[in-house]
Formats: sequence, structure tokens, C-alpha cells
Amino acid sequence: MHFAVFFFAFALTGTTLALDNGLMRTPPMGWLAWERYRCDIDCENDPKNCISENLFMDMADRLAEDGWKELGYVYVNIDDCWSSKQRDDQGRLQPDPKRFPGGIQKLARYLHDRGLKLGIYGDMGKLTCGGYPGTPLDKIELDAQTFADWEVDMFKYDGCYSNATEQEQGYPLMSKALNATGRPIGYSCSWPAYQGGLPPKVNYTQLGEICNLWRNYGDIQDSWDSVLNIVDWFFENQDVLTPAAGPGRWNDPDMLIIGDFGLSMEQSRSQMALWAIMAAPLFMSNDLRTISSGAQSILRNKMAISINQDALGIQGRRIVKEKSGIEVFWRPLSKNASALLFFSRRTDMPYRYTTSLSKLNYTTGSYKVFNVFTDEAASLKDSTEFVVSVNPTGVVMWYVSAPAKFNLRQFYQGGTLHGRVYDDREENAIPRVFL
Ligand SMILES: *[C@@H]1O[C@H](CO)[C@@H](O)[C@H](O)[C@H]1NC(C)=O
Ligand SMILES: *[C@@H]1O[C@H](CO)[C@@H](O)[C@H](O)[C@H]1NC(C)=O
Ligand SMILES: *[C@@H]1O[C@H](CO)[C@@H](O)[C@H](O)[C@H]1NC(C)=O
Ligand SMILES: *[C@@H]1O[C@H](CO)[C@@H](O)[C@H](O)[C@H]1NC(C)=O
Ligand SMILES: *[C@@H]1O[C@H](CO)[C@@H](O)[C@H](O)[C@H]1NC(C)=O
Repeated sequence: MHFAVFFFAFALTGTTLALDNGLMRTPPMGWLAWERYRCDIDCENDPKNCISENLFMDMADRLAEDGWKELGYVYVNIDDCWSSKQRDDQGRLQPDPKRFPGGIQKLARYLHDRGLKLGIYGDMGKLTCGGYPGTPLDKIELDAQTFADWEVDMFKYDGCYSNATEQEQGYPLMSKALNATGRPIGYSCSWPAYQGGLPPKVNYTQLGEICNLWRNYGDIQDSWDSVLNIVDWFFENQDVLTPAAGPGRWNDPDMLIIGDFGLSMEQSRSQMALWAIMAAPLFMSNDLRTISSGAQSILRNKMAISINQDALGIQGRRIVKEKSGIEVFWRPLSKNASALLFFSRRTDMPYRYTTSLSKLNYTTGSYKVFNVFTDEAASLKDSTEFVVSVNPTGVVMWYVSAPAKFNLRQFYQGGTLHGRVYDDREENAIPRVFL
């Protein structure tokens, strides 16, 4: 199938509705506590890393003061273990008084004052996964209203200790309850992860109508094995998952662990690139107070972020899986551009992979390609064979512009032009944001 045709087919089928709260037209970006900080509530011995308002304010300061916010990283999300073990005397959830003495609303205002947004966590069962009070069916309306009263901007609804019947009622009910508060609150559903992630149990049409994003698969851990395992699942099931995604409705392969302990620099680039291809939410779970400049440069890569945030919101696919261990991924982007990703599963040495854009089904023409991680640009005809050298567990990622058409500007060579001229700065060029 030709990509032009392929793209058209997508555009036609991609008319399914998204949750109508106007939020998350591109994948949400920010910071989320869970992977790096888990359920560390030991503030006496680990004051800097325990789940407390200080941790979230520290991360907010870093996002706001170190330029992350301008790149799009605006959510600061609390995960499990934030609450008191008891509801208050009016039955409402309340934060642990020792660790959140200012309360959640004050924290939300601290973030809003800095142009950031606050996310919070709850669970469909009697208890959260960490053993804190859950939000079962009879508490849904009350808790949604409590979060809105606190001026929360996003809510992740986990599924521990709930059964399929409760989930079937609870996830749509929470969507309605959040809407009824009148406050736009981004809604992350863990429902499909508890149903095995695939049809017939999971109905992705319905999910897209009630949730802004959803976790389909297991939690990420701080290791390359975990990243690979997630990537394998998402691309083995791409025929089901890619049509489910679109503006306002995203598959969530879980947090970015770049800047933690488990990934090499190559692997960190791979996670960033693969998450960009997948149109995945970009929630970092790391320590922004001490993160290395190497990890920062990957997370701050403007071109990778722009690919992730492309307005069309079409999730990319794996298009080649070679016996050599090289895989090629492709994502269509706005302005008829695309992203190409060459990924190596090899563990020996850099592999020199030879192909051409026409072998990858690009239409006839001359393209400009821009290397996302080295900033090199080149022109390439569809028929030209090229070689990319892909490091073990690493990637080479390209932004590929639309093919150049007949260039009148060049043809007339400075002569007088009449009427509309094809402008190669528009279509066959690298967007300014990258340069
Ligand atoms: C290119 O298109 C052909 C014919 O439809 C198809 O068999 C092949 O898998 C495609 N190749 C890629 C890389 O998508
Ligand atoms: C609630 O849903 C209605 C109808 O789908 C929509 O127009 C409105 O913007 C939603 N409000 C919020 C706060 O999400
Ligand atoms: C699911 O949980 C509810 C509430 O605990 C219970 O009433 C119901 O019987 C359970 N259903 C199944 C199928 O286990
Ligand atoms: C999936 O959900 C959609 C929208 O809610 C509904 O119209 C459709 O019937 C459901 N499909 C199945 C197989 O249940
Ligand atoms: C994309 O390509 C199509 C078909 O070649 C063309 O009609 C359209 O104008 C192009 N869009 C942009 C934004 O370049």
C-alpha cells in the first residue's frame, strides 16, 4: 500500500469522537511521581523524595524555572499514596495531613500561579493499589466534586481491587461526574490495562468517548527490558491500537524513565523517539533537581517533541521488521511530512542499514530529511539508496518533509513572477521551530 493512500484511509476512519472536554488535543506532557518515587512516605528519613507537597512544589519549580514548561511539560501529577487512610467526617477524601499540610487546593494554586497544572490519582476499588481509600461506585460523584473543588486539572483512575462489573459502570460514570463538575479535568483511565488491553474485552470506541488517555498495559519499570516489553506489546497490537488514538484520545504506554538509572543514553534516545512515534503522553518520572545534562538534552529535543505533538494526532506504526534486528517505524505528520525511525535490537555493534525512501513506499519526489538527534539535514530523492548506521539498542530518527514539486522560483531565476508560486520554504522545508 502506498503511503498517500494509507494516509487517506486513516483520515476517513479517524472520525470517531473524542471525549468532549476540549482537553489534550495533543498528547499531554508533564511529570508524574510514580515510577521514580512510588509509595515512599518516609518523610522523616527521606524528606527530599517522599510523597509530600514539597516534592511536587520542587518539581513545579524546576518545570517553571528551567524552561521545561515552555517545551510543553506542564502537568505535575500526584500518583498513589497521597491521601490519609481515612476520609474526613463528611466522607470526603483528604490528603495526609503530615505530608500535605497545606492541602491539595493550595498546591494546585501554587502550580497555577506558575502556569502549570495539577493531576491527582484515585482507584475504582475499595482501596487503591497502595492500600489507601479508593473511589468505588458510590463515591464517584463526591470525589469528582472534591477534585474539582480543589481545582485539579487531571485525574488518573486506577483499577486495583475492582471487578469487571464495577469497572464497566465506574469508568463511564466517573467521566460523567467529572463533566458534571463543570471543571475541565483531563481523564486518564486504567480500565483497559485491567481487561488485558485488547478487544473484545476492551472497546476502544467507547474508551475514546469517555477518557482522554488510557493505560493499556503493565507499569513501566526502570529498565531497558521493561521499555522493550512495552514497545513489543504496543507494536504487535498496532492494528488495534493505532486507530484508537487521535486528538483528545491517546494510548498511554506509561512514563518516560529518561534521567533515571535503567537506561543508557542510546536507550534514552530510543524511548523518546518511540514515544514520539506512538503519539504517547510524555510524563517524565525522574528527579528534575539533579537530572544530567545528557538526559535533559534528550527530553528537551524540540524536534522529537514536535513529532510527538503533531496536530494530526495519528499514531505511528512499525512498517519493517528485518531479520537483522533492524526495525523501521513511520508516522504521518501534518504538512504532508512524516517521521521515520530506524531502531536496532542488536547487541553487537553499530549496524549499517541500507534502504531507500521508495523501498519504504514514499511517493516519487525529492525530500528533505532532518536528523532529530544530530541536527544534520540533507536532500534525498525517493530512489536514492542510503545507509543509516544504527547503534545497538539505539535509534536514528528523521523528520521527512513533503516531496518538492516543480520549483518555479528556481525556474524563473529572479524573473518576474505572476500569480501564486509554489514556495519551497513551506512544503519541502524543515519547520522553523526545529532550527
Ligand atoms: C509497501 O507496499 C507494498 C505493497 O502494498 C507492501 O507489500 C509493503 O509491505 C510496503 N512496505 C512498507 C515498508 O510499508
Ligand atoms: C461536558 O460535556 C458537554 C457535552 O459533551 C461538553 O459540551 C462540555 O464542554 C463538557 N464540560 C466539561 C467541563 O468537560
Ligand atoms: C463485583 O463487586 C461487587 C461489589 O463488591 C459485588 O457486589 C459483585 O458481586 C462483584 N461481581 C463479580 C462478578 O464478582
Ligand atoms: C463499543 O462502544 C461503542 C460506543 O459506546 C458502541 O456503539 C458499540 O456498540 C460498542 N461495541 C461493542 C462491540 O460493544
Ligand atoms: C498534501 O498533499 C496533498 C496531495 O498531494 C495536497 O492536496 C495537499 O495540499 C498537501 N497539503 C499540505 C499541507 O501540504
